[in-house]
Amino acid sequence: MSKNVLLTGGSGFIGKELTALLISHGYSVSILTRTERKPSKDITYYKWNIENNYIDEASVLKADYIIHLAGEGIASKKWTDKRKKEIIDSREKPIELIYSVLKKNNKSLDAFISASAVGIYGAFTSETICTEETPAANDFLGATCQKWEAATGCIKSLGIRTVIIRTGLVLGKDDGFLKKLVPIFKYGFGSIVGTGKQYMPWIHIDDLCSIYLLAVTNTNMNGAYNAAVTDDTTNAIFSKALANVYGYFIWLPKIPAFVVRLITGEMGKIILTGQRVSSRKIENAGFKFKYSNLKPALLVCLK
Ligand SMILES: NC(=O)c1ccc[n+]([C@@H]2O[C@H](COP(=O)([O-])OP(=O)(O)OC[C@H]3O[C@@H](n4cnc5c(N)ncnc54)[C@H](OP(=O)(O)O)[C@@H]3O)[C@@H](O)[C@H]2O)c1
Repeated sequence: MSKNVLLTGGSGFIGKELTALLISHGYSVSILTRTERKPSKDITYYKWNIENNYIDEASVLKADYIIHLAGEGIASKKWTDKRKKEIIDSREKPIELIYSVLKKNNKSLDAFISASAVGIYGAFTSETICTEETPAANDFLGATCQKWEAATGCIKSLGIRTVIIRTGLVLGKDDGFLKKLVPIFKYGFGSIVGTGKQYMPWIHIDDLCSIYLLAVTNTNMNGAYNAAVTDDTTNAIFSKALANVYGYFIWLPKIPAFVVRLITGEMGKIILTGQRVSSRKIENAGFKFKYSNLKPALLVCLK
């Protein structure tokens, strides 16, 4: 019988692509979701409600692997105190809920794999290439990722192999952060943001999903792994490449940092700052990037 993978957030941008990849590799997939969804031949949906501490326990009892992707959009609303709490709770609480089901039923898993973000290294621009050993930052994103990752400790305490995927900006078709940029760049209005010197660690969605698949199959994988290409892509390089895909050179002036801060508040840090990250650890685990150059990665996303 095929192994079952339970995805939280499986209906999102990354979850949809990962579901397709897992199914194509012979896994059966279940998804925990807040909304009623039409059952399909390949996917079983289970309901949960984090706020009410409700989870359909059958989802966890059936699972061989759990991949935790669920979480409120980090960049979808301004970071008020209420929003910050929602961002953290929607990542931490699901892990606690899953843990309680595993513990109560004395149930184990082949592995628990959780998303995290390269934002753990902090919202500032630096030439340093962050490895998984680089300390976490104290700013909001750093602290959020730290809490998110620390929450997996209870699962690990059950003796379950636990892997964390510290993800960079994910490039994909019709979704993710490119979805927000395409309408602007497509019509010639693309521009560099702030100084343009902030690094943008990126990864193509196919590569990210392959990393999750590797985390399922490679039993030697444990702990945190950066999932982003190690290159020198800054906001200026990224913006020029994206404009170039649409056949023009950027002609508009840079968008000043204070304008971004005025519109987005503290959240603007995501756009105005960025660091380089090392992919050596995941490559040493056997992963080979299909897309390690920005332009071809953008081209496949936008064709
Ligand atoms: N995309 C990126 O560039 C990127 C970069 C770094 C890290 N990540 C992380 O990777 C994970 C997946 O990213 P994504 O881009 O696929 O996100 P997404 O498209 O926004 O999907 C997230 C999913 O989480 C579920 N969700 C949202 N709020 C929830 C809540 N309050 N309680 C329970 N479930 C909730 C939703 O599923 P239902 O509506 O079905 O319940 C949603 O489909 C996220 O944790 C994200 O922070 C993404």
